[in-house]
Amino acid sequence: MTPKARPNKPGASFHKGEGATPRGAATPEQAAAYVRTMFGRVAGRYDFLNHLLSFQLDRSWRRRTIRTLSRILAREGTLIMDVCCGTGDLLLAMESKAKGSVIGCDFCHPMLLEAQRKSARKRAYAPLFEADALRLPLPDNSLDLLTVAFGFRNLTDYRAGLVEFQRVLKPAGTLAILEFSNPPNFLFRALYKLYSRFILPAVGGAISGAPDAYSYLPESVEKFPEAEKLAATMESVGFTRVRFQRMTFGVVALHLGLAG
Ligand SMILES: C[S@@+](CC[C@H](N)C(=O)[O-])C[C@H]1O[C@@H](n2cnc3c(N)ncnc32)[C@H](O)[C@@H]1O
Repeated sequence: MTPKARPNKPGASFHKGEGATPRGAATPEQAAAYVRTMFGRVAGRYDFLNHLLSFQLDRSWRRRTIRTLSRILAREGTLIMDVCCGTGDLLLAMESKAKGSVIGCDFCHPMLLEAQRKSARKRAYAPLFEADALRLPLPDNSLDLLTVAFGFRNLTDYRAGLVEFQRVLKPAGTLAILEFSNPPNFLFRALYKLYSRFILPAVGGAISGAPDAYSYLPESVEKFPEAEKLAATMESVGFTRVRFQRMTFGVVALHLGLAG
């Protein structure tokens, strides 16, 4: 094992706030299998529902992320990976701007097939591969930039994910996590909860035909650590210059940090 790598211990931390815990999953392996199967079931409708249920805001969240990362994307010779790339929206947006190489990975085959189709339609050439974010098939110190959009929340062990990202990033390489968060404002938080607990599962469940998938979404957001806590966890695994910016009243946060 290389000095930078640290083993992921299955079952070592399976608690609320430290990793995804879908209902009924008793171990990290069951949780990961649930997440993979669930995204496989909604893959064909994922983009449509994503835009609909976010009132198209997901597009502006990704655009803002790209703007924030524009200086890295403008550098020649960089290697960038979008982890949990799903159907490829962030990946393809980065590919169209980047002067370096962009690759994407996800552990859900049907989501990757959607990304592949979209990529062919846009005549994009970002290589895609099937891989678990907790065990990336890359050597240490490979990447200049690692992005994860709306995928990090689904990892069964957040700390292990961050350790793995740290391993594959070059020293001072950038990590960017775009993820749902809990709005700090009490009133907006209450409204958001109302929407995500009742409207979102009803609409998402009816259109996708997978109601449990759209109940999992708000549950997983509620269990996800606050933006400050995620920033502190990033620092505790060695990321430096950690900061975050909230978007849309804090419904989403973009966390940034440099690998140590
Ligand atoms: C909500 S989707 C986000 C997709 C895309 N990044 C976007 O912005 O639309 C979450 C994705 O994370 C993937 N995912 C979840 N856990 C993963 C893991 N451990 N390894 C790789 N992919 C994972 C899922 O398969 C799914 O495609």
